[in-house]
Amino acid sequence: MRPVEDLSVVVTGGGSGIGEAIARRFARGGARVTICGRREEKLRAVAEDLGSACAWLTADVTSTTDRVAIVDTAMRHGGAIDVLVSNAGNMWRRSVEEWTDEGLAGILANNVIGGMMLTQAALPHLVAARGAVIFVGSIYTKRAYPGAAPYAISKGAVETLTRVLAAELGPRGVRVNAVRPGAVPTEINVRSGDFTPDEATARLESMAAHHALGRIGTTEEVAECVEYLARADWTTGAVVSVDGGLSLGIITDEAKEI
Ligand SMILES: NC(=O)c1ccc[n+]([C@@H]2O[C@H](COP(=O)([O-])OP(=O)(O)OC[C@H]3O[C@@H](n4cnc5c(N)ncnc54)[C@H](OP(=O)(O)O)[C@@H]3O)[C@@H](O)[C@H]2O)c1
Repeated sequence: MRPVEDLSVVVTGGGSGIGEAIARRFARGGARVTICGRREEKLRAVAEDLGSACAWLTADVTSTTDRVAIVDTAMRHGGAIDVLVSNAGNMWRRSVEEWTDEGLAGILANNVIGGMMLTQAALPHLVAARGAVIFVGSIYTKRAYPGAAPYAISKGAVETLTRVLAAELGPRGVRVNAVRPGAVPTEINVRSGDFTPDEATARLESMAAHHALGRIGTTEEVAECVEYLARADWTTGAVVSVDGGLSLGIITDEAKEI
């Protein structure tokens, strides 16, 4: 496995939640990390905490110009791009009647096309480094949540992209994998339903019994798996569930009595 301290890592959406935990984990291990997102205050706080290991820029992954800036910043800071973690994502939960062309285009641009095109922008450097891309998918591809079709199809596309890109880029030495997180308390769960952070966490925790391991997860537990995929030299095209067994679709005792 590649030593973490040898890696230059880009994390989109690195200013909060899972992306922040990924950035912190790599930086702690001695990697050079570049984080981006749209909110300056979030990025600045993480970067100040991590010190010289971390560079940051405000950048929207849906913008061509911003994607070039992400690559340039990472090359200036890290001298290479060994690992691209395409983590930036938003939830757009809408019932059928509420779908709009703009809303659907927006969620796909944000959750799929941004990461695809950032991979394209970084590709010469990924090839030079024999690097790795890690996409952040979602449990929503394995469990059907009413109202979540727009978000779920975007994450389904991320999984398909992972497999096809792994086949296409493998011969050029670039590995492509994805993690499929389950329920992890972060801002996305707050924004998705206008909940308070406590309400959002309570909603997730109410699902604990549906996990084989009996509990929801943490951002650090997802970051642990991302680090493994970044370093595992013979793993490509994998989509790894990191969800405490939520995707197993366990039937609880309560349900068995029905
Ligand atoms: N938490 C869960 O339960 C869970 C489960 C499965 C999958 N996921 C996935 O995990 C990933 C991270 O989400 P999270 O849970 O950590 O929530 P989060 O804290 O809301 O993180 C999402 C991050 O993406 C950034 N972002 C969103 N759109 C962006 C854009 N267009 N350009 C650049 N950055 C953008 C956000 O920053 P700005 O708003 O400042 O741009 C934010 O830092 C997402 O892909 C999400 O779908 C989460």
